[in-house]
Amino acid sequence: DKGNHRHFMLKEIYEQPEVVAHTLGHYVDFAERRVALPEGAEIDFAGLDRLAMSACGTAFYAALVGQYWFEQLARLPVDLDIASEFRYREVPLSANGLSLFISQSGETADTLASLRYCRAHGQKIGAIVNVPTSSIAREADYILPTLAGPEIGVASTKAFTCQLTTLLALAIGAGRQRGHLSREDEEKLVQAAIEMPRHLSQALKLEDEIEGLAKELSRVKHVLYLGRGKSFPLALEGALKLKEISYIHAEGYAAGELKHGPIALIDETMPVIVVAPYDKVFDKTVSNMQEVAARGGRIILLTDEEGARSAAVDTMKTLILPSMPAAIAPIVYAVPVQLLAYHTAVFMGTDVDQPRNLAKSVTVE
Ligand code: M6R
Repeated sequence: DKGNHRHFMLKEIYEQPEVVAHTLGHYVDFAERRVALPEGAEIDFAGLDRLAMSACGTAFYAALVGQYWFEQLARLPVDLDIASEFRYREVPLSANGLSLFISQSGETADTLASLRYCRAHGQKIGAIVNVPTSSIAREADYILPTLAGPEIGVASTKAFTCQLTTLLALAIGAGRQRGHLSREDEEKLVQAAIEMPRHLSQALKLEDEIEGLAKELSRVKHVLYLGRGKSFPLALEGALKLKEISYIHAEGYAAGELKHGPIALIDETMPVIVVAPYDKVFDKTVSNMQEVAARGGRIILLTDEEGARSAAVDTMKTLILPSMPAAIAPIVYAVPVQLLAYHTAVFMGTDVDQPRNLAKSVTVE
């Protein structure tokens, strides 16, 4: 049931403050402001040398954000791969390692095959899944559920932010276990996570502004998304979301890669969407925006007030998100990225919930 919403996708975008809170509650003790891994998910991160992760599509982009968190918060090296590549790469795996698989459906063929490869090579298996009865869940040692509820729209939205929420909690827990985060650091990070639903609700209020912008996007043929650091996966996710439901060609790039090729494409006909909260790599991203502006590119900037104040560059539009600790920004910035794709698709008149050529669950390779 879509409730008052025109599409499942929009309904699911709006459910995010609630399902993110619900998922977080599964992994943290709100009163104590600490990570408390539930029964069946008590992973020993302290004993690990490395962590392997693989997934497909949007779930892979969640894993990519997870890589930044595990490395920064827990000093845990991460080997990350797209499942369709991983399964055939003949990856050497260290003894007693842990491999994490991320999947909304828990049935994605390539992800399941990667899991089986890891199991056959002696790895412990963790599964971040939205369907606890799925094949991937059944074959895992540790089941790490996302509590997003059923996701009907083919474009993944709330499952993505719940995967991110789970990964953030795991990375904070890992940081604490590995002695990289103090108890006070943990409290601060968990407090930031507890505030995510409030920021998500705030971000949803940008919908009208985003709808206006989407009208313009629906007239273009190509869109470039840029982001740096933890915003890089959001750029990839933004491009995937836009192409899958609006059929507009979009590419996501790490902002620093711009001058290594894609800058040749910049002109006034291809909008450049920049995901850039005011964080420690913000100034670097601003330099990339200046390169775009100097070539007549039209910029749509997703940032916060501090970012908007300090970005010395003309934009076609700046969307202002709430200010928040950098660790949680990828989760909140997912909202404008999703709404932009959604409204563009609505203007294009495509079948938003059932885009052509796509299936909700990819059970063949
Ligand atoms: O069920 P899974 O999470 O394993 O699915 C993985 C991808 O097929 C999925 O995320 C796909 O990319 C979505 N349609 C993206 O919106």
